[in-house]
Amino acid sequence: MVLEFRRYRDGDEVGIVETMNSAFETFRQWGLTSDIWLELTRRDYGFRRDLALVAEENGKIVGHVQLVLRKLRYGCAVFTTGGIANVSTRPEHRGRGIATRLMSLAVETCREEGIPISSLWTGFLSPAHHIYRKLGYVDTFSPYSFGAHLLEVKEALKLLGGNGVEVRELQSADLDEIRKIYALFTEGWIGPGVRDVEYVRNKFTDKQFYHTFFYDEPENFVRLVSVDGGKVTGYVIAAFGGKLSRRYGDPYAGSVLEAIALDEKSLRCLMQSALQELLEAGAKKVWVNAPDIPLYRRLLPEFRKVGGQGTYMDKIIDLPALLEQVKNELERRLIERGVSVSTSIKLAVDSGSAALKIEDDSITVSREDSSPSCISLSDRNFLKMFYGVESFEELLQRRAVRSLKLASGMELEILSTLFPKNLFYVWPLDHW
Ligand SMILES: CC(C)(COP(=O)(O)OP(=O)(O)OC[C@H]1O[C@@H](n2cnc3c(N)ncnc32)[C@H](O)[C@@H]1OP(=O)(O)O)[C@@H](O)C(=O)NCCC(=O)NCCS
Repeated sequence: MVLEFRRYRDGDEVGIVETMNSAFETFRQWGLTSDIWLELTRRDYGFRRDLALVAEENGKIVGHVQLVLRKLRYGCAVFTTGGIANVSTRPEHRGRGIATRLMSLAVETCREEGIPISSLWTGFLSPAHHIYRKLGYVDTFSPYSFGAHLLEVKEALKLLGGNGVEVRELQSADLDEIRKIYALFTEGWIGPGVRDVEYVRNKFTDKQFYHTFFYDEPENFVRLVSVDGGKVTGYVIAAFGGKLSRRYGDPYAGSVLEAIALDEKSLRCLMQSALQELLEAGAKKVWVNAPDIPLYRRLLPEFRKVGGQGTYMDKIIDLPALLEQVKNELERRLIERGVSVSTSIKLAVDSGSAALKIEDDSITVSREDSSPSCISLSDRNFLKMFYGVESFEELLQRRAVRSLKLASGMELEILSTLFPKNLFYVWPLDHW
């Protein structure tokens, strides 16, 4: 029996979908078919057939991994991650190293495609987590959402709302406006998916996507916009599990998938209308997907932040290429702080190294490593610092920096400026 590990070939979708359905209850219940799988590859720029990896044995697909490209914001820059999705081995073929070899192929494919980092969501300490750790993926971020029992949701409703803002159904003519509102709202953040016109049209029009590859009919969702002074100021997308035509998740739960507005008054009105509609539909509990920022905390004081058992993991594929992609944002940080020097700092991590040559406020990233200053970190701590989950200063304080050799005191200020604390968040719609 010869196992072959390779990229997609025409017709593989049948075996891929069988494998996915054998491994994931969610896909089975939701009703994934090979036609839908093919359709997904047309709806999402990142979901490409040539990035579907399979393990084949005697003409049968027995394992699968999908590499999904995601353009994520990094302040004013954008970087591309090779998202890992749908890792699956048919139950009767497990424990033979198939997923491990497919994941190695995924990493190799990222290298071939020039993708500098690979990222995924999984259950902390799950069997898959073990495979990812073995291959050098590290835990960088703990995902969370905000939850409340319906009694607390009723309390929250009393505090929400506001005058002067009209809330009405979302129409397809609003899509470009809400795309712009999303872009403005998430400006400067780390993590939000970059959404162009086509992406938004594909994910919001005849199908409403809500999480990774899952969608339902738009009329089964709460889809509202706020209008103030004749202008659309925000939107909310929410779903009640019991109303979806395709089964997914908890049928008693309501979830607010995205509530975004340009001002707090609009957001209060949108949140009130969405929560109200979810309760009227029969929700016994509500999850709100939102970043942990004061704005949402003010709106939902009765909701509890719940971390669950999930973890976000990354593997650095090519450190200099990653830094090159986000260089503009690093330069912007130097300019904002008024740091203007001439120096070079080597960043050394487990998976490689890169040198940042700083000339006034411009940065050149190189692979040479003769810099007089050097900071050495684990991949995990570097990535936390990269995302701003922890600042350079915090890492230093908790002795997470392995070694630090500085030519002068100036480099300390540069590192603090380049890697401050930040908000990292990816909305469920852009998950993979
Ligand atoms: C996760 C999954 C893809 C693994 O497939 P597989 O082909 O059996 O994986 P491999 O044989 O390459 O590796 C399995 C590894 O997990 C380890 N493992 C198995 N069960 C484990 C557990 N409960 N906890 C920790 N490790 C476990 C095995 O010992 C092996 O590690 P080793 O090679 O160091 O001994 C498969 O179980 C599956 O399809 N699960 C359902 C779908 C899923 O959960 N996908 C991941 C979503 S993020």
